[in-house]
Amino acid sequence: MSAVSLQGIDISYGSVDVVRNLDLDIKSGEFVVFVGPSGCGKSTTLRLIAGLEEGRSGRVSIGDKVVNDVDPAKRDVAMVFQNYALFPHMSVADNISFGMRLRGEPKEKIRANVADVARMVGLSDHLHKRPGALSGGQRQRVALARAIVRKPAVFLFDEPLSNLDAEFRAAMRSELSRLHRELGSTMIYVTHDQVEAMTMGDRIAVLAPLAQTGHSNLMQFGTPEEVYHRPANLFVAKFIGSPPMNLFDGRADEGGIRFGEIRLPMEGQVPAAITVGVRPEHVLLNTGEGPFMTGTVEGTENLGHEKLWFFATEIGRIVARTPDTGNFRLGEAVNLRFPAERLHLFDAATGGRREART
Ligand SMILES: Nc1ncnc2c1ncn2[C@@H]1O[C@H](COP(=O)(O)OP(=O)(O)O)[C@@H](O)[C@H]1O
Ligand SMILES: [Mg+2]
Repeated sequence: MSAVSLQGIDISYGSVDVVRNLDLDIKSGEFVVFVGPSGCGKSTTLRLIAGLEEGRSGRVSIGDKVVNDVDPAKRDVAMVFQNYALFPHMSVADNISFGMRLRGEPKEKIRANVADVARMVGLSDHLHKRPGALSGGQRQRVALARAIVRKPAVFLFDEPLSNLDAEFRAAMRSELSRLHRELGSTMIYVTHDQVEAMTMGDRIAVLAPLAQTGHSNLMQFGTPEEVYHRPANLFVAKFIGSPPMNLFDGRADEGGIRFGEIRLPMEGQVPAAITVGVRPEHVLLNTGEGPFMTGTVEGTENLGHEKLWFFATEIGRIVARTPDTGNFRLGEAVNLRFPAERLHLFDAATGGRREART
């Protein structure tokens, strides 16, 4: 296992900049997820680490070695893609051991390593089969086994589960987390799925398309708790969380902040034009004290363990999430309250997070 460090990375295709000003320090043994919408440069950055892509400027280090000029094959990384390119005419065992056989490793060692890795990924009973006889999930395990058997310092995963159906995806997610604990390797995992990011990452790098941000693709690098509870900017606030955070236009002055009919005393370095955010689970319905606004029930979704409520208010639609208790009728007027300590404030001009206290 090795740390991975990116410093001042710029990547362009022809005259189009795709990645700019990317700095990331990934610790040895860490599981880091790159998450962001399609086209934000996740695959490009991963390929840069693998050595399959050349940046315009910046430094890539693996362990304590700068690898800009090191061949992909000598970087000690293994990459697993969404499209597991297996050899159809070879058995699972031969697919897994392909690289070892190419290097002329001893037969006994190959057999032992393949058996070991097959056990890790649950393929022990399938070693003699051809890929065509396997399910999609099993084939992805072969691709995974092929990477593990190389014992790389760093694993790079590019949306490896997106071809699998939901049930397999969930199972593979927890298996990958288990493998990470068992192997202790540094793993970098790319996905556009925020649930995958939140459930798998020790830390999450939220990336945005350069066209939307201008300065850098990196919007935030933090633990799942940090990106959820303290989003660094509006982009992260909107991208992480489902249903997404409610956002309103607000104003701030010496007296506090105001949005719609609500006025809350708060102090802090806050510009006059702000965007106020509150997560659906933090909207209080007909409880609490202090200022409230009226919402009319427009709709509801019952998710079993919880319910979503959609309200029409004077400042737009608000979504609330409650445990499955509580019931409101369509068209009913409900008092909506927003605990000050649950509010997120953003500079309306820059989108940057601002802190204020009650
Ligand atoms: N080989 C290429 N030539 C030109 N543009 C590319 C190439 N590969 C990717 N791009 C562009 O670079 C941007 C980032 O792509 P990519 O890293 O694949 O994004 P992601 O993996 O986050 O969806 C996209 O706008 C994409 O169209
Ligand atoms: Mg991609």
